[in-house]
Amino acid sequence: MTSESDEVRARLRADLRHLHPYGAPQLDVPVQLNTNENPYGPSESLRQAIADAVAGVAGTLNRYPDRDAVELRKDLADYLGHGLTPGQVWAANGSNEIIQQLLQAFGGPGRSALGFEPSYSMHPLISQVTGTRWVAGKRDADYGMSTAAEQVTLHQPDVVFVTSPNNPTGTAVPLELIAEVYGAAPGIVVVDEAYGEFAREGTPSALTLLPGRPRMVVCRTMSKAFAAAGTRLGYLAADPAVIEALLLVRLPYHLSTVTQAVARAAIAHRDEPLATVEVLRRGRDDLVGWLRERGLTVADSDANFILFGIFEDRGAVWQGLLDRGVLIRNTGPNGWLRVTVGTPAENDAFKRALTEVVPL
Ligand SMILES: Cc1ncc(COP(=O)(O)O)c(C=O)c1O
Repeated sequence: MTSESDEVRARLRADLRHLHPYGAPQLDVPVQLNTNENPYGPSESLRQAIADAVAGVAGTLNRYPDRDAVELRKDLADYLGHGLTPGQVWAANGSNEIIQQLLQAFGGPGRSALGFEPSYSMHPLISQVTGTRWVAGKRDADYGMSTAAEQVTLHQPDVVFVTSPNNPTGTAVPLELIAEVYGAAPGIVVVDEAYGEFAREGTPSALTLLPGRPRMVVCRTMSKAFAAAGTRLGYLAADPAVIEALLLVRLPYHLSTVTQAVARAAIAHRDEPLATVEVLRRGRDDLVGWLRERGLTVADSDANFILFGIFEDRGAVWQGLLDRGVLIRNTGPNGWLRVTVGTPAENDAFKRALTEVVPL
């Protein structure tokens, strides 16, 4: 690169210089099982509803959007249930932006955030970008979190992340443990439920813990079970005081009119994407069984992806699958790989490719 570029690099914040950008590969291959999306695209009727919703607001695009996304928050509160009101719900461009706003408001210079690794890689990255010191908490050997509350007591972080089901392990966290973490935490406890809808039947959401816990935040997204990753819509439920705090850091008009309209159309037609959840859960359980039958080690999963291994050279396995048109994710602890559950045809393609790359 030119010396002019070096001059720019020299101006970058010193605390960002060692970081790498988020980089899940986006490759145009036939079977994409790497970013935990719902593989089922919208039906003809849902596509029409989305097109109608966009057409309905197109004539207003000379104006800024509803800054507070009032109607959308009503719809989200209605979807979440648990007696939540729109004043307890907030929305942004993906739950990544929700996490960023939370850290801008409750983290920042001189403050710290703690998560239990391995977990979602953006928690530490957004922490560092917002000047929040990251504390890498630990999990048990089986990815449980039996010492979570002790770690929180020890480090006294301003923000704690509990991801349930966890990415990349798929592990669900029992509610009693989340309540314990809350009891030990001096500050905000963010329960990231991006994959909440995929949890096993009867697994309660941390939304049930919200009453009487004003420092608890439950984050959700429309990117996974809702099959709307391209819409970029994340949301949270929390005490109204949390949302008041976020109003200070959010950019004015952060959520476009088009995003709000498309998200509302998707929520109105939610029965369609949510009907795929059961199919994907079955696909997950089948795939877990199949991988175990092949002698592989597989983490228990309550999500729409599976962490499996343990390979001496996971990069070679990942590349072998890619050479056969199947893209999965090279992530997680050393030796492990993560595969997203796809359609039955995609799962079969993955099985065929893995059988070739890792013969029994
Ligand atoms: C645990 C977790 N949280 C949050 C997100 C961010 O999702 P989005 O920004 O698409 O809502 C992801 C995406 O993979 C995730 O795995």
